[in-house]
Amino acid sequence: MSGHGTPIPMTSHRAAPLSGVAEVPGDKSISHRSLILGAMAIGETKISGLLEGDDVLDTAKAMQAFGAEVVNHGGGNWSVFGVGVGGFAEPDQVIDCGNSGTGVRLIMGCMATSPITVTFTGDASLNGRPMARVTDPLALFGAKTVGRKGGRLPMTIVGAAEPTPVRYVVPVPSAQVKSAVLLAGLNAPGQTVVIEKEATRDHSERMLAGFGAEITVADTEEGREITLTGQPELKPQVIAVPRDPSSAAFPVCAALITPGSDVLVPGIGLNPTRAGLFYTLQDMGADLTFENMREEGGEPVADLRAKYSSAMKGIAVPPDRAASMIDEYPVLSVVASFATGKTMMAGVKELRVKESDRIDAMARGLRANGVTVEEGEDWWSVEGLGPDDVPGGGTCESFLDHRIAMSFMVMGMGAQNPVTVDDGSPITTSFPIFEPLMTGLGAKLSQD
Ligand code: S3P
Repeated sequence: MSGHGTPIPMTSHRAAPLSGVAEVPGDKSISHRSLILGAMAIGETKISGLLEGDDVLDTAKAMQAFGAEVVNHGGGNWSVFGVGVGGFAEPDQVIDCGNSGTGVRLIMGCMATSPITVTFTGDASLNGRPMARVTDPLALFGAKTVGRKGGRLPMTIVGAAEPTPVRYVVPVPSAQVKSAVLLAGLNAPGQTVVIEKEATRDHSERMLAGFGAEITVADTEEGREITLTGQPELKPQVIAVPRDPSSAAFPVCAALITPGSDVLVPGIGLNPTRAGLFYTLQDMGADLTFENMREEGGEPVADLRAKYSSAMKGIAVPPDRAASMIDEYPVLSVVASFATGKTMMAGVKELRVKESDRIDAMARGLRANGVTVEEGEDWWSVEGLGPDDVPGGGTCESFLDHRIAMSFMVMGMGAQNPVTVDDGSPITTSFPIFEPLMTGLGAKLSQD
C-alpha cells in the first residue's frame, strides 16, 4: 500500500468492545527531524523508534541523495552518518517527497543556504499544496525558486552560495515554515530570527538545542521569538523517538465511541504544543485519563487510558488550542458526531491546505454518513447525534489523505452501519500498522 498506486477501498464494521494495549508508532514530526538533523551533524546519530511510514522513508532517501549515509538496522533502529552543516552534495536525481508536506518543506529549508540546485516533486496531493509560504522566506536568504503556477511542485530551488541571515515573522501558524527557516539559518553566518504569533509544535527548537546549536526562545510583544546562531558544528545524538500523539488519537477516539471499550495507549508525548486533542476530549466529558505521568527525554509522557464514553457533550473548541491539535480535527469531528449537541471548531483555516482540504473532505464524508455539518472558510461545526444514533452506511473519499481515511475507519467502529473509504492506501504514510493494531483491539476492518 503506497498511496501512489491502485486505490484500496476499506470498510469498517461496527466493532465489539475494543480492548487491550495499542502501541502506536514513533512520532512523525520527530522522525523527519531526526534524519535531517542527523544528516547535518558530523558523525553517527543513532535513532530508535523511527516511524517507518512512507513519508519518513522518503526523507531518509532524500538525506542519502544529499550525501549522508543512512543505515536501517531493522526494528525501527537507524543510523545517520552526517556530512555537517554546509556539507550537502547536490543530488543527481529529483527529490520525491511523496505525500509529505513536512518532508519537502523541511528539506527545502535545509538545502536553501547551500550552493546546490535541487528539484522537488511529490504525489498529486503534495503537488497541489502551497509552497510559497516556504520559498518566500528562503528567498530572503538568497535562494532562488522556479516552480509551477501558484508556487506548486514540481519546483527547483537554487541554494544561496552566499546566504545572509534573516529576521522573519511567520504569517501563518505553521511549524513547517518556522522549521524551514531555522534549518536554512543553520548555514547562514550570524543570527537568524524567527517570530511566530502563535506557538506551534516546538520539536525543531528542542532538537536543534539537543544537537548543540545555539538557540534561544523569548516571548516578546510580537510573539514567540526564536534566535539561532548560524554555522554551528552539530553533534550527533542518540534519539529515542517517542510515540506519536497524532497516531494515538485514532485508538483513543475509537475506544470513546465503541460501546464497552477500554484501551491503553502507552508512552504518548504530552508536549503542550501537541496535546490539545486530549484536553478537548476531556472537556467534552470523555473518560480519558493520563496514567503514569513521567518525563522522558525532556518531554512529558503518559499512558493514555480511554474508555467508552456515552455521555460526551459538544463544545466550542477554544481557537487558541488549534495549533496544538491541528492534525486531530478530522478524528475529533468523528467523536463530535457521537456526542450530544454541537461541536464548533473555529480558527482552523490551515485545515484547508493539508494533505487534503480537511474541512471539505470530512464534511462530505460525515454528511454521507448522516451527520449534519456546517462550514465557513475558517470554521466548521458538527451536530452530534448522541452515542447510539450515528447512521453510518456511507462511502467517503479519502483524497490521498491518511488522516481522512483513518478517521472514517474509526467512525465505522461505533456507527450503526459500516463506513467505507474509497482508498485506504494513504494510511501507510504515517501509520503503517494501523490495520493490524486496530483489528488486534477488536476492530472489524476489511479491504474490499
Ligand atoms: C508538522 C507541522 C504541521 C502538521 C504536520 C507536521 C511538522 O503542519 O500539520 O502534520 O512536523 O512540522 P503545518 O506546519 O502546515 O501546520
